Amino acid sequence: MSERKQQIARHFGAAAPTYDHAARIQARIAEAFAGEIAAHVQPERMLEFGCGTGNLSAAIAAQFPDADLIATDLAPAMAVSCRKRLGRSARLAYAAMDAELPAFAPRQFDLVCGSLAAQWFADPHHAFTALGALLRPGGVLALTTLGADTFREWRAAAALLGLNAAIPAYPSLSQLDWQRPPGFLVEAAREQRLWDEHPSALDFLQSLRRIGADLPADDARPLSPGALRRILRQVDAQGHVNATYHVLTVLWRRVG
Ligand SMILES: C[S@@+](CC[C@H](N)C(=O)[O-])C[C@H]1O[C@@H](n2cnc3c(N)ncnc32)[C@H](O)[C@@H]1O
Repeated sequence: MSERKQQIARHFGAAAPTYDHAARIQARIAEAFAGEIAAHVQPERMLEFGCGTGNLSAAIAAQFPDADLIATDLAPAMAVSCRKRLGRSARLAYAAMDAELPAFAPRQFDLVCGSLAAQWFADPHHAFTALGALLRPGGVLALTTLGADTFREWRAAAALLGLNAAIPAYPSLSQLDWQRPPGFLVEAAREQRLWDEHPSALDFLQSLRRIGADLPADDARPLSPGALRRILRQVDAQGHVNATYHVLTVLWRRVG
């Protein structure tokens, strides 16, 4: 596993005990996403990647009580938290798995899904192709991920100071579609903007830490403490903090 991936797994693993308290937006997104999935597919066998503590797992297990679900995450501690939340049953299984190297035989699932995990992939097209290969023909690859406007307030504040906010370059909805695997058609695609309110910039940053998502972009130099303090002051100067989550949702159906 690459050094970057080990770092991602360590950050999220360490955040497993604090994730749920801070992940308000993630919980809302997962709940709505499960409803969207149910409008397009009635699965018997489901695989979830990047399950975290089980926001989407719980929602799809409730939507499809008769289906089998394997919930997986890069961070073993997250898969354990998910198991604690959903419990054990003949229909549920949990595993640590890098979604970019899925360890399952092809063509065995009707639904492969993940919420807010794909933005961590090193090579999304390759990962989506590997995940798509696990689907039976007619099956659906469904995911939410972060879009280009995410945390625009931070980029703007850093740019005003001539700094780089070290936030990854997230895709637009059409750029995400370029990552669609061969043999898949768009079943549904939409974008929405949600705002996460915080009393201060520091509070927002601490909430990112509590969910494990405080890693700088892979190709960015981490901000120095001084630069970070200047950005925090700049964001605070705009009043209370409304962090934009630009959420892209796609459902791709396997036709080939
Ligand atoms: C923001 S959390 C989302 C968790 C959950 N899906 C939710 O909606 O609350 C992102 C999760 O993706 C996982 N993750 C990151 N990269 C991954 C990868 N390559 N394979 C599998 N999981 C990954 C992280 O460990 C973390 O649990």
